[in-house]
Amino acid sequence: MSCRSQLTSWKVLSESAKKLGGVHLKSLFEQDKQRFEKFSCQIPGVLFDYSKQLITPEVKSQLIQLAEECNVAQWRNRMFSGEKINFTENRSVLHVALRNRDNTPLIVDGVNVTEQVNAELAKIKQFTEQVRSGDWRGYTGKAVKNVVAIGVGGSNLGPQMVTEALASFADDTLDIYYVSNVDGVQLAHVLNKLDPETTLFVVSSKTFTTSETMTNARSSVAWILASAQDDAAIAKHFVAVSTNLEKTRAFGIADENVFTMWDWVGGRFSLWSAIGLPIALYLGFEAFQDILEGAFEIDEHFKTAEAGENIPLLMALLSLWNTSFLGHKAQAILPYDQALHMLPAYLQQGEMESNGKSVSFDGQTVPYTTVPLIWGMTGINGQHAFYQYLHQGNTIVPADFIASIKPQVAMGAHHDILMSNFFAQTEAMMAGVDEVAVRADLVAKGKSEDEIQALLAHKIHQGNRPTTSIILDTVDAKAVGRLVAMYEHKIFSQGILLQICSFDQWGVELGKGLASKIESELLNEDVNHEHDSSTSSLIAYYKSRR
Ligand code: F6P
Repeated sequence: MSCRSQLTSWKVLSESAKKLGGVHLKSLFEQDKQRFEKFSCQIPGVLFDYSKQLITPEVKSQLIQLAEECNVAQWRNRMFSGEKINFTENRSVLHVALRNRDNTPLIVDGVNVTEQVNAELAKIKQFTEQVRSGDWRGYTGKAVKNVVAIGVGGSNLGPQMVTEALASFADDTLDIYYVSNVDGVQLAHVLNKLDPETTLFVVSSKTFTTSETMTNARSSVAWILASAQDDAAIAKHFVAVSTNLEKTRAFGIADENVFTMWDWVGGRFSLWSAIGLPIALYLGFEAFQDILEGAFEIDEHFKTAEAGENIPLLMALLSLWNTSFLGHKAQAILPYDQALHMLPAYLQQGEMESNGKSVSFDGQTVPYTTVPLIWGMTGINGQHAFYQYLHQGNTIVPADFIASIKPQVAMGAHHDILMSNFFAQTEAMMAGVDEVAVRADLVAKGKSEDEIQALLAHKIHQGNRPTTSIILDTVDAKAVGRLVAMYEHKIFSQGILLQICSFDQWGVELGKGLASKIESELLNEDVNHEHDSSTSSLIAYYKSRR
């Protein structure tokens, strides 16, 4: 398999990147008044504007040519048809089957997975209604008031991010708490507030072996039993989401209290499965279905839109262009919507766990930078923290700006003030402020020539910082489904373009394995493994002082 950098379009793009190196985005806008029309597209509920990216029509067609040479469309079809494209784990990649709203049969290994998905959705619906209506009772016969969702990584970030995004639509049926950290302070803070008689735990772990989750689950069982003094209480207060029935049984959770998922659902793409149960419990099953509907719309868009109008593909191509060709090694995710405050953390796992790798499909080290470091926070808070770096640092960080037209909560002029910051920041990052403008401003303020000379260089903003603006109609359940699915298909396309196996995560296993080895040293005074001198001394220091 030839390396991507040997492809004709890759070589052409490398030349284009050199040529565009000296070009300023501002001049591209000055030269072409139709730039926005050329480099933006709309689908229901979403405006996608990439005109503030450093591209030209030629670069766009070269990028599309690259997508063709890399067979992205064929790979996409292979994914949607259930082929085992996760070949390092010999699995299909079928999170799209979880939101297959037109119910087309999808046969994998002789099984119609659409039927399996629908059966599980029915179980989620029934359970959700039982809990929310008060029919599901705790060990003293009281209805559930609080849900504690235990899980980590893909078994936490998606549900928690969506819960936060849609909290404005929750009624007061249930309160929900997420516990992901094995640091006992998180679980303790949650449990201290709650009454065991009215608390339901959802333990989510695809493998049901993840140490952090199992530790939190065991402590939660102890908390319930300390109050109930009867093992029968476990069945009334614990449900699990997992593929591993053997482990859920061994843990003491009855099969009827286990919601299943399948090995073809990757953890970081699993919020559409029973991993999303906490969302359904908190917001109601209908809202959960709306999230699936929104994602399904994007699946259809991704399958059918022309390359030049295909938002997830364009997102992937722009990321590749910025990272592998223009050399920008980070990307910021900046939601101008408080509801989306966890999106950067969610996408960190999505993109970095999927494509933060450095060998190609056939195990060869790739000669290009793969994905950028993904980071960010809500734009407004970021403005008062790290935007100085984004505007004047000597490293360029392309950014996705995300906002909505209608706020979830209308309050006076708040939303217009928020949005004026959104527009101002993307404009400033693109245009910057040159010496002439800075000088004129200082002159207007009555500064002397000496004062101007002292300040001039400090006040110049180079601009030319690429951004994409994504404007949603509003942040509701469908919109969240759309947004997440857009990024999921971006990540998929990015993996194909980079020739990276996006669906395994061997890099996470190394630390996990070492941690469990060291755990035995911390729990047993006389166990000492061999380490480097730093690690041995740190462990000894900790053990001698704890
Ligand atoms: O972070 C590593 C990882 O394996 C993720 O891919 C996964 O989402 C997370 O751990 C949790 O795994 P599990 O659902 O099996 O507990």
